[in-house]
Amino acid sequence: MSIQVKSVNKFYGDTQVLHDVEFTCGKGETLVLLGPSGAGKSSLLRVLNLLENANSGQLQVANEAYDFAKTICEKEALKLRRKVGMVFQQYNLWPHLTVMENLIEAPIKVAGISKQQAIDEAMALLTRLQLADKADAWPLQLSGGQQQRVAIARALMMKPEVLLFDEPTAALDPEITNQVVKIINDLSETGITQVVVTHEVDFAKKIASHVLYLEKGRMVEHGTKEAFTTPATPEFAEYLTH
Ligand SMILES: Nc1ncnc2c1ncn2[C@@H]1O[C@H](COP(=O)(O)OP(=O)(O)O)[C@@H](O)[C@H]1O
Ligand SMILES: [Mg+2]
Repeated sequence: MSIQVKSVNKFYGDTQVLHDVEFTCGKGETLVLLGPSGAGKSSLLRVLNLLENANSGQLQVANEAYDFAKTICEKEALKLRRKVGMVFQQYNLWPHLTVMENLIEAPIKVAGISKQQAIDEAMALLTRLQLADKADAWPLQLSGGQQQRVAIARALMMKPEVLLFDEPTAALDPEITNQVVKIINDLSETGITQVVVTHEVDFAKKIASHVLYLEKGRMVEHGTKEAFTTPATPEFAEYLTH
């Protein structure tokens, strides 16, 4: 099992945003966290790599185990984030570094590999993502879709066991969205586990092996991609008509 979440509850102040969330995700699966805005999808995703702590519950991910009842120190969180990568909605590329520099920074400084090896691996990834000619470009010279691919390449440089995506197609037009679909589906062939937050049903259907549908911080439906054709709950069935 790649990810196991047990009775996770999370509050922002007095407001509870996750209620007893509980699921497992097998290695190599692509789990889509689907639901309307405010459902708690991003909060749940950020709990999976300890960018946020939950108030209670347990998390197992990438062979590490955490109990949110206990204090989790930043060192443990950093260790986890080497194995659980995240692609942010706003890409979060460093604007003062070139594409190549964005890719090799963490592998050299955090993972401790040589600069030459990092450059070789970065070039291979950029080629795979059809960005080889952009190695020396600045992030802001790139289109949104290209920046998104660089952000994915940067996350992959750390060879994560799990890759998390927050609304990866939110700002992209349909053609670029299809490129992201292809990247996620190609990655799923490599055995990496992916968790993808989205509110878009069509995108979800194209990538999901499994789906978890949330409303107001509660799990409403959890199943394989078959749930898109045979939803078990009226709430999910209704959402699919959007
Ligand atoms: N840092 C925060 N502080 C306070 N409330 C927050 C914070 N982040 C999110 N929320 C609230 O938590 C709820 C869930 O948000 P979020 O996880 O971003 O949902 P989603 O990604 O499904 O749109 C929303 O009501 C949102 O306003
Ligand atoms: Mg969100």
